[in-house]
Amino acid sequence: MTGHAAIGYAPGKIILFGEHAVVYGQPALAASIDRGVRVVTAKRDPQDLASNRLGPVLTSAGIGLLSTVRPAASGNPSSTGEGPEVLRLALEKLVSLCGERVRDLHFSVEGNIPIGSGLGSSAAMSVALVRGVHRYFEEELSDSDAARLAYEMERIFHGNPSGVDHTTIAHGGVLLFRRLDAETLTTHIEPLYPKRRTTLVVGMAGPHAGTARAVSALRERAKRHPDLYTHIYRGIGSIAQEGAKLLEQGHLAALGELMDVNQGFLNALGVSTPAIESMCSNARSAGALGAKLTGAGGGGAVLALVDGDPAPVLQAMSVHAPAFLVELHPPVMA
Ligand code: PMV
Repeated sequence: MTGHAAIGYAPGKIILFGEHAVVYGQPALAASIDRGVRVVTAKRDPQDLASNRLGPVLTSAGIGLLSTVRPAASGNPSSTGEGPEVLRLALEKLVSLCGERVRDLHFSVEGNIPIGSGLGSSAAMSVALVRGVHRYFEEELSDSDAARLAYEMERIFHGNPSGVDHTTIAHGGVLLFRRLDAETLTTHIEPLYPKRRTTLVVGMAGPHAGTARAVSALRERAKRHPDLYTHIYRGIGSIAQEGAKLLEQGHLAALGELMDVNQGFLNALGVSTPAIESMCSNARSAGALGAKLTGAGGGGAVLALVDGDPAPVLQAMSVHAPAFLVELHPPVMA
């Protein structure tokens, strides 16, 4: 990296209510968290540029990625690229969205969101990358435009995402999100203002099964009992609507009950695991008001709502990795 550098940042996210049902048009309640991904954007090393090796180049520290990623020569993906194919394709997408000038850039990515855990690490990286590029070229980028560009990159990571991840991450704060039309990518977002400081413990229940895989496996299961699954999705949608009201009224105990009911539905949908169920149950026994998985499930992160001292719940949820706290904040107004 040489010369002037620009920083793009984006937070991770949690889904408090509504994962999976949101893919079928139901509302979801999601919030950004105070962990995130930072991308330092600068010109590639002159020697690298002179030897004309393909760019852009992405290197990372501390987020578990391979150390260097660069796209492959066109038409020959596996022979000359470096790093996981999905990331190389995402970098190619970034070039097509932001222009050939991006090939001269180096991205140094660092972050503190556990990756592949349902906390939005890929969407945060996409938003941070598009922000980094625009800052580097000193161009304005609204949160809505950051979300739109990041969505194109998210499609590479996740197939046909509902948009809840990158929208929450690009706008920040707490949102009630709904995808109105998958074809035209029309979405509706309503910022929410929690009445009380709302503290959640996040624990890790083993490796995440992968969002695209979890969504398509559920779609296949639902084909056998379409009406039943539609009822479940609607039930989850009502929970998200009700949860939005309770959050703004500050009724934490009722919010916790809704988390437990939402978790029951997620278990019925087949996206929970014994490790998730046991972590939820341990969190409740340690005093949590409610607990559920967050994200696609099949492993990944579990949320527990606490009121008062979070230490016993933190301890109960530090099974596979240390659990940590997140707090819900009102959205940052642009
Ligand atoms: O990528 P994750 O684990 O945060 O899951 C996203 C939420 C889903 O509803 C499962 C998928 C989607 O596209 O909304």
